[in-house]
Amino acid sequence: MTELLRTGAAYYPDYIPEFVRTWRNGNVETISRRERMIQDFARMKRNGFTWIRMGEFSWSLVEPEPGAFNPALFLEALDLALSHEIDVIFCTPTATPPPWLTERNPEILPRDKSGRLMPAGTRRHYDPTNAAYRLESRRITEYYARTFGNHPAVKCWQTDNEFGCHGSTYVYTESAASWFRAWLKDNYLDIHSLNEAWQTSFWSQRYTDFSQIPLPLSSYADANPGLELDFRRAMNHAWKIFQSEQAILLRELSPGRPIIHNFMTLFFELDPWKMSEDLDLAGFDHYQMESDPHPISSAWQFRLMASLKKRSFMVLEQQPVQVNWQKVNRRFPMNLLFQWGMQAMFAGADSMLYFSWQRMYGGAEQYHDGIVSHDIRVDTTEQEELLQFQRSFLSALKTAGIQKIDPLGDVCMVLDFESIWSHDITSQSELFSTRTVVDVAAEFCLSQGLGFSFSPSIESIDPSSRMVFLPAHSFELSEKERSVLRQYMEEGGIVCSFPRSLMKRRDNRMSDLPLHLLHPEDLRVLSYGALLEEEREEFKDEFQGRIWAEKIEPGPELSVLARFTKGLYSGSPAVILQKAGRGKWIHLCTVPERSREFFSWLAIHTLSRIECPPGVQAFPMNTNLGPAIGWINHGTDAEVPWSGKLIQARFPDIMASPAMGRILAAGAIGVLLPD
Ligand code: GAL
Repeated sequence: MTELLRTGAAYYPDYIPEFVRTWRNGNVETISRRERMIQDFARMKRNGFTWIRMGEFSWSLVEPEPGAFNPALFLEALDLALSHEIDVIFCTPTATPPPWLTERNPEILPRDKSGRLMPAGTRRHYDPTNAAYRLESRRITEYYARTFGNHPAVKCWQTDNEFGCHGSTYVYTESAASWFRAWLKDNYLDIHSLNEAWQTSFWSQRYTDFSQIPLPLSSYADANPGLELDFRRAMNHAWKIFQSEQAILLRELSPGRPIIHNFMTLFFELDPWKMSEDLDLAGFDHYQMESDPHPISSAWQFRLMASLKKRSFMVLEQQPVQVNWQKVNRRFPMNLLFQWGMQAMFAGADSMLYFSWQRMYGGAEQYHDGIVSHDIRVDTTEQEELLQFQRSFLSALKTAGIQKIDPLGDVCMVLDFESIWSHDITSQSELFSTRTVVDVAAEFCLSQGLGFSFSPSIESIDPSSRMVFLPAHSFELSEKERSVLRQYMEEGGIVCSFPRSLMKRRDNRMSDLPLHLLHPEDLRVLSYGALLEEEREEFKDEFQGRIWAEKIEPGPELSVLARFTKGLYSGSPAVILQKAGRGKWIHLCTVPERSREFFSWLAIHTLSRIECPPGVQAFPMNTNLGPAIGWINHGTDAEVPWSGKLIQARFPDIMASPAMGRILAAGAIGVLLPD
């Protein structure tokens, strides 16, 4: 029987010393690394694990000297995994080039924006555009694929580890400069068209040859926004090529194993749509990036991951529960670990691996949590108790007959990463970000029981979705995009856009026909501006706009659903509507404050399935038993607005038991099955 959510952990046989202490029958004993591994596998098995991930930082152990290999430890671990029926995701080790390599080829080291050389001896210290490193990457990938890739325990490959982590996306080396110039030559007809696109007449930047084009290093004043955007495109392409060179070898030499990469939380520097073109599966490293949990952002990023390959995804790293890289590394309540797991599952994850199995004794992450404690005397950790609890909830779902969960996609959100970069480059306000806008759109969906998915572009929106969100899609529409949206609305679709949509050209200059969605004469954009952190623009006398506001003059075809009622924008439209065919377009001229009242009002003009009580997220899904809803209650005890059989749990005090009525307890997870 397939599991609803398979679990596992990152496992590092390479971090285990040759001899370690263990606690047996009330005594301290010294055991060998092999004995420790046997204990680990038995314990993983007890925890219900069916996955481990290995090898991403193993290069200096597997190849201690150039061309001299020592794969024995990993082969031993693979044999143990096989005999314990634990599947392995093996990783290429290129995130950590070994010391002998950086000593021999120092030119592979990257430079940061200030031109500073990044030293070896940590991780991610390489330049993906560097020819010598690309050669090494192919060579070691080939060795790993041949040596480990046909072992029956290896069921999947991960490329590298977290491309772009620690600010390593953009490199500013001579090699990167050549890469960038070559990319520009491939993408512009000639230097004249580049000058046009970047409007290099501004601040006397006209180039006469591609060789003059600089990298956007730290400078007194801002670099050209066209150059900045193209540099990001060129670097994205470099990472994509770097990864695809590995993927080609893995497919050829270790056939039948899907390839995955671990994309990061709230990370927008690389475009996961493009990066996942060379992958079979999407993987996600889910961490809390802020001091407080961000359940809305988590929810939509899980949905983004499920959208990348239009299939279930894997959480490859889940923090369990404390990390070591925050300013203050607080401990979250263990129930959150349960919430994160179930939220990922409701959003389309089929596997969750915790980072990591063992709390490390040495290295930079020694304070990071793991499933297994530092203290050898602790034989069942809080994490293990949680895992056992989670298994009992999952088996209650199974007993109720749920075998499969397919999240619904009523709403399609367009998330174009070049648009994110464009906003980032000319942000005009440090308070504005696409993430903030997507948070609003996602919270609206979660509060109204609407399932949602993402699309990389307007051309690829899912025509069967009932609503399309453009959460600050920066770029003006091409004729093709306009006709896609027109057709979509003709057939009854609703398009809802947020401020700062359709304002720019693809080359990152301003559009001279901003917010032109259907007809040029529909409206005029008179002005706009950023709002201070505490500043609000009230509209409809009851709602608050924040961060940004636009002053629009609507033409006769547009209706005004709400106006700004106070302040600088008073009297001008805050929400406009245009009918189109059987559908409509709604544009919000400010970023609305997230409130239930506003969401209910927006739902009247757009869509809703069920209105959730405050603090409750609803994940509508199809199951083998029919439609169901997954609930996560971040608020107080609440009555769920749907009848059926509710199975709920909250660690550690509410064990899953079916038919507990319609009250979802504060902090509980529930699944509501139809009667
Ligand atoms: C991730 C990384 C892991 C580990 C973890 C710690 O970003 O992939 O290797 O460093 O963070 O939280």
